[in-house]
Amino acid sequence: MIKLYVYDNEQELAEHGALIIQELIQAKPNAVLGLATGSTPVGMYQALIARYQANKIDFSKVRTVNLDEYLGLEPSHPQSYRYFMNENLFNHINIDKQQTHVPDGLAPDGEKACEQYDELIESLGYPDIQVLGVGANGHIGFNEPASTLTAPTHLEVLKTSTIEANARFFNSIDEVPTSAITMGLGAIFQAKRILLLATGEAKAEAIASLMSPKLDPNCPVSMLKLHHDVVVLVDRKAAKLLAV
Ligand code: F6R
Repeated sequence: MIKLYVYDNEQELAEHGALIIQELIQAKPNAVLGLATGSTPVGMYQALIARYQANKIDFSKVRTVNLDEYLGLEPSHPQSYRYFMNENLFNHINIDKQQTHVPDGLAPDGEKACEQYDELIESLGYPDIQVLGVGANGHIGFNEPASTLTAPTHLEVLKTSTIEANARFFNSIDEVPTSAITMGLGAIFQAKRILLLATGEAKAEAIASLMSPKLDPNCPVSMLKLHHDVVVLVDRKAAKLLAV
């Protein structure tokens, strides 16, 4: 079931997302957070840091698993997702870094790294909440549009549109990795709750597809309507194709 909230400004959206996570951690101090990178959740991570500084959240027992990582980037690379998480959240809160997990983009045996990541997620008991952004093409994690989608953690070749969208973070488009390791739909659907954030007009079609009755593997986010507890926070631009 999907609960959709539409906001006039990104700050309110970010605060609502942070409040949902705060309430979860207050109820379950050792909660497992499934986390995403990208521009969209940055405001929510800032709101979480502010709530930590205001003594509203204690992250000391929290565990995290991230959705994805570029293949070929070391954790110290400024565009790696491990680096992103440290910079945008983990370095600013009292989380035990040993309890934060991001797929290994440098694993010599990629297939094995995928299996091990699924084992890890299972051993943590799956995310209590999975934070998701969405690509303009409807991808979640790096589950790109395709005629069939993949359940386990797997290696994914990125679509040209994704490489182009992410080039803004690199010096040139040639530096953007062309493949990634990503949680599949399986672990995402095992999350007890999904918190999807989307802002900007580029996401409007993907959000319309999510809210339509159709299940379209060529727009992976549309599959989320099968999950029993999905909270969607969007701004007016991302909601522009919806009748709300
Ligand atoms: C990132 C991820 C991606 C992004 C998506 C949107 O970990 O899994 O699916 O959520 O590409 O990215 P932004 O938020 O930069 O528009």
